[in-house]
Amino acid sequence: MSTLSAWMHSWFHFPKASTARHFFYGIILGFSLSITSTSLALYFQDRRRKQLEKRFEPRPIEIRCDEIIHGVAGLIGNTPLVRINSLSDALGVEILGKAEYLNPGGSVKDRVALRMIEDAERQGLLYPHTGSRIFEGTVGSTGISIATIAKAKGYDTTIIMPDDVAEEKVQALLALGAEVERVRPASIVDKKQNLARDRAAHFGHPSNPNTRPSMIRTSTSSILVSSSAPEEILDERHGILSVEEQDELRRMPRGFFADQFENRSNFEAHFFGTGPEIWRQTSGRVDAFISGAGTGGTISGTGRYLKTMNDDVLVVLADPEGSGLYNKIKHGVMFDRREAEGTKRRHQVDTVVEGIGINRLTHNMELGLDVIDDAFRITDEEAVAMSRYLVQHDGFFLGSSSACNLVACVKLVKKMGWKNGERVTTILCDSGSRHYSKFWNDAYLTKANITVRTHLIDDLLSSENPIVMDSGKSGFATPISQE
Ligand SMILES: Cc1ncc(COP(=O)(O)O)c(C=O)c1O
Repeated sequence: MSTLSAWMHSWFHFPKASTARHFFYGIILGFSLSITSTSLALYFQDRRRKQLEKRFEPRPIEIRCDEIIHGVAGLIGNTPLVRINSLSDALGVEILGKAEYLNPGGSVKDRVALRMIEDAERQGLLYPHTGSRIFEGTVGSTGISIATIAKAKGYDTTIIMPDDVAEEKVQALLALGAEVERVRPASIVDKKQNLARDRAAHFGHPSNPNTRPSMIRTSTSSILVSSSAPEEILDERHGILSVEEQDELRRMPRGFFADQFENRSNFEAHFFGTGPEIWRQTSGRVDAFISGAGTGGTISGTGRYLKTMNDDVLVVLADPEGSGLYNKIKHGVMFDRREAEGTKRRHQVDTVVEGIGINRLTHNMELGLDVIDDAFRITDEEAVAMSRYLVQHDGFFLGSSSACNLVACVKLVKKMGWKNGERVTTILCDSGSRHYSKFWNDAYLTKANITVRTHLIDDLLSSENPIVMDSGKSGFATPISQE
């Protein structure tokens, strides 16, 4: 015993009083410093949040529930931002979807169609109830939106679309009184766009396609407006038009090629609509915005607005396989391996995701390219799995591009390691009811070699490896030049 106490004595010395005092002060100082820095950090965080909150505008008076809306156009926009409970709870964050499928034309494209038509009216390019016709090339959603608004405003519509899109979109267009022309899908060259432009140019002279069309001057080369007025009236050498001539010109039917890919109204519909709405709905507390791109209007317009309000908001692209945008964002080159090597397993007609993915840079995409921080490649299987998962867990019945967006939300949260209530916003573009014959048809999917494996989403939610998650390995080619 005494040997042990002697050994302990030699090993352990009580410090001198002054050393102990310094040691004690050190602990107190360290402790107070750590408390001060934490409270300082919290204080600055709170101050920043309050500053951001001050910058969002109060709720607009056009919030719909407490007033009467004038016609179908009044129902467009101001869509709810809905929490996706299953994904949010599983991840410990807030996954918030803008319910665009609640627009009267059933998709996010209602905003764009309305803005393109109203901008054209404001610029004196289109006059309602004059027998004028709007032409557009689309995979369907934009066509349905244009046809809906055109009917409400007094125009006719011709929609050129690929012959492989889900049949229910054609039925909707026909029910809305649109003229539908179907073409073989073209990959790089946008055949439907060229055809729509051509049809618009020759509108008014259908009996003789060789007649030179009479064109109305527009501020951009993309939008095209033809008139059935005689060419001499529009000829610059004709001089200034008399009041009667102007009036006559206004009443003559026009052909209007809306050109959603290049028309800036598309970007502006989101910059002045979707973006500010998300900002208001989140009281300026938003950490990320995720969207796919068909024309690029949604991601560019919404993303740029949110970045303008807070540079820290992450803007992220959800890109299907076969689209070149993923590589453009990640590596600066517009390139898809499958396209280059000719190794697409399925022809474009067999693709399952409709509305997003593109292989050329549109003007609307260029308007927001510099605000996109990151991109995720989403496989067909992942999108299909997410759509089934959401029905099973939340009762959300959504279309293919919404499912892609939500897979990308999960991947971003995993990659960032977020689990403290961070807010990730995205677009629920359209409903599953637009996709019965393909994306929501298991027999079709089986034929296209796509297995429905809902557990993919459970795996993704529990996975800790973002690199594996971004492998995009299903091997199915997805659409190009889609919307
Ligand atoms: C259903 C659907 N979702 C998403 C998009 C993509 O939107 P954007 O054209 O703004 O890139 C489209 C495009 O048409 C679409 O049809």
